[in-house]
Amino acid sequence: MSGSRASVLFVCLGNICRSPLAEAAMREEAARAGLDVEVDSAGTGDWHVGEPPDRRAQAVARRHGIDISGYRARQVTAGDFERFDHIVALDSDNLAGLRRIATAGSRAALSLLLDHVPGRAGQPVADPYYGDADGFETTWADVTAGVRGLAAELMRKAAA
Ligand code: 4NP
Repeated sequence: MSGSRASVLFVCLGNICRSPLAEAAMREEAARAGLDVEVDSAGTGDWHVGEPPDRRAQAVARRHGIDISGYRARQVTAGDFERFDHIVALDSDNLAGLRRIATAGSRAALSLLLDHVPGRAGQPVADPYYGDADGFETTWADVTAGVRGLAAELMRKAAA
């Protein structure tokens, strides 16, 4: 839809590691590219609702110049499927979880983040939660690649 504002929700398991980083990277990429887009993130699980991002996620974002300390985790809701054009899962377990709760009236297009990177369709952004700090740099590299591809697609759609 030319001229209308796109909206994207990133979804991982806890909404404290991967999806907040995807949200932050997408906000930055959209600002850089001049793309008008609503961006949010959520988790399929509820264990961390109300918490700020994991300290290691905050640290990697800070290393890349972005403050995500004010983000708070929330769980995905049925309303998200009406509110967002795109719901982008960080891995296939979370994509399967989203498909289970999507209703017939859902308008959101579901995808995996790395589906938006040529040659990486179907790949997960690995869960860094139980790993070391290096894992979060890998997460950052993956989410950055994913949001660049996604933003480029949204720019093409906005221009069409
Ligand atoms: P995220 O990482 O899904 O990238 O936010 C995780 C956060 C918490 C847990 C698992 C993954 N957890 O089991 O509590």
